[in-house]
Amino acid sequence: MGKRIAIIGAGPSGLAQLRAFQSAKNKGAEIPEIVCFEKQGDWGGLWNYSWRTGTDEYGEQVHNSMYRYLWSNGPKEGLEFADYTFEEHFGKNIASYPPRAVLFDYIKGRVEKAGVRDLIRFRTSVRRVEYSEEGGNFRVVAEDLVKGTETDETFDHVVVANGHFSTPNVPEFEGFETFNGRILHAHDFRDAREFIDQDILIIGTSYSAEDIGSQCWKYGCKSVTVSHRTAPIGFDWPDNWEEVPLLSKVEKKIATFKDGSSKKVDSIILCTGYLHHFPFLEESLRLKTANRLATADLYKGVVWAHNPKLFYLGMQDQWYTFNMFDAQAWYVRDIILGRIEVPDRDQMLADVDARVAEEDAIDDPYGPIVYQGNYVRELIAETDYPSFDVDASDQAFIKWKKHKKQDIMAFRDNGYVSPMTGVQAPPHHTKWVEAMDDSLESYLQI
Ligand SMILES: Cc1cc2nc3c(=O)[nH]c(=O)nc-3n(C[C@H](O)[C@H](O)[C@H](O)COP(=O)(O)OP(=O)(O)OC[C@H]3O[C@@H](n4cnc5c(N)ncnc54)[C@H](O)[C@@H]3O)c2cc1C
Ligand SMILES: NC(=O)c1ccc[n+]([C@@H]2O[C@H](COP(=O)([O-])OP(=O)(O)OC[C@H]3O[C@@H](n4cnc5c(N)ncnc54)[C@H](OP(=O)(O)O)[C@@H]3O)[C@@H](O)[C@H]2O)c1
Repeated sequence: MGKRIAIIGAGPSGLAQLRAFQSAKNKGAEIPEIVCFEKQGDWGGLWNYSWRTGTDEYGEQVHNSMYRYLWSNGPKEGLEFADYTFEEHFGKNIASYPPRAVLFDYIKGRVEKAGVRDLIRFRTSVRRVEYSEEGGNFRVVAEDLVKGTETDETFDHVVVANGHFSTPNVPEFEGFETFNGRILHAHDFRDAREFIDQDILIIGTSYSAEDIGSQCWKYGCKSVTVSHRTAPIGFDWPDNWEEVPLLSKVEKKIATFKDGSSKKVDSIILCTGYLHHFPFLEESLRLKTANRLATADLYKGVVWAHNPKLFYLGMQDQWYTFNMFDAQAWYVRDIILGRIEVPDRDQMLADVDARVAEEDAIDDPYGPIVYQGNYVRELIAETDYPSFDVDASDQAFIKWKKHKKQDIMAFRDNGYVSPMTGVQAPPHHTKWVEAMDDSLESYLQI
């Protein structure tokens, strides 16, 4: 069809885009030339674990934020691909909270089957994306990290899929420079065993705080103290776990909190979230948004309203993940293929405003789940992405929230109904607190 498409990133979002085009091609459509740029040596994005922290062997910022012993924090029934079920991949029905290696294997299985690997330029980092009004296209400059050479090419569309849980948000607190211990951000956390027998202080109350604290507790730290800016997490925590107000200062090993209380701590882990970070995009193309369900400036959550030739995938805060990225990728594909029309800028911005207002009006703790489920449903209704039982996924998430409330250290022992096959997941063979080996072989007992 003569068009050229650049996809930035081969994580779950970028891979969804590749699979979307390959699926159209299988059905006889003519598809554009596609180049997917991936700065790492393999696909899978965050699921491609690396022991490295800081910069990699080429001086690039290490993308990985995942750590050893990470198990899915939400049920797999909320992320299952509609065109490639867990049962198809593993040849059997598996439990609901797979560890990282199992999910990585699943992600790879679909794209290996699709045969899209040769569309990816690995170890190639995108350095600069500019839009040319004159040419009506994008200039994309990328560096082959191995050869140290640069390419400078034009593309008709750019799909930004570089994720937004990789560049850490790192606040500083008074006295940090005096602290006699390690201060790190969750992005650099790799192995809970580093904190055995330590009193750890965690700042933040979201998923990283809850999961990294739980990992450290499970693998034998002495105590967990979680410091909150807005509100405590509020689960029924184990005895050696407490929640305290925000840290006000640190003096050597003594941490003092806003209510005047203090505690000796050995390490401080900043679970303070991530930044949407697009250093390679010229400013007029750069998404600036909070981590929320309705992002700023993205029509239907994917089209850059200020230049609809540019798309973003997976930029929302996430309950739904892999199948939401699919819904988005199929939708973007159909715009590029001319099957879906994009309205004018005012209408696109009105769509953004409506989504923001709808999210702001949510007042029920389960509302965000249903909101994002409705968004997935809305997008898949407009393409040929296989329809699935979104209600069953919503229900899995709602039960998951209730199970966390019941017992935060045992919620992963539950199972849910697949939205794709309608089959109930079996319980895992070992309780999460007792399962110290997170390998694929151990999880699947092979
Ligand atoms: C610690 C942690 C645990 C998580 N656990 C879960 C979970 O249990 N379940 C779940 O569903 N989700 C989880 N998530 C959410 C996660 O965001 C998604 O599962 C998913 O990885 C997002 O996919 P993505 O492709 O959008 O981004 P990413 O996975 O971040 O992939 C982006 C890709 O872009 C590449 N890239 C970046 N910059 C460039 C550049 N300039 N040039 C070329 N390539 C570039 C990166 O190397 C990477 O491969 C977790 C996130 C974190 C941080
Ligand atoms: N096992 C797993 O699967 C797993 C594990 C970890 C993370 N994840 C994923 O990783 C993603 C990111 O989660 P996240 O927890 O890292 O980030 P997040 O959800 O964005 O939460 C950021 C937290 O940092 C706090 N914070 C930010 N700035 C602060 C400051 N200056 N001082 C004090 N607190 C501050 C916020 O507090 P306020 O509420 O006050 O704003 C919030 O509690 C999620 O999608 C999650 O699912 C998954």
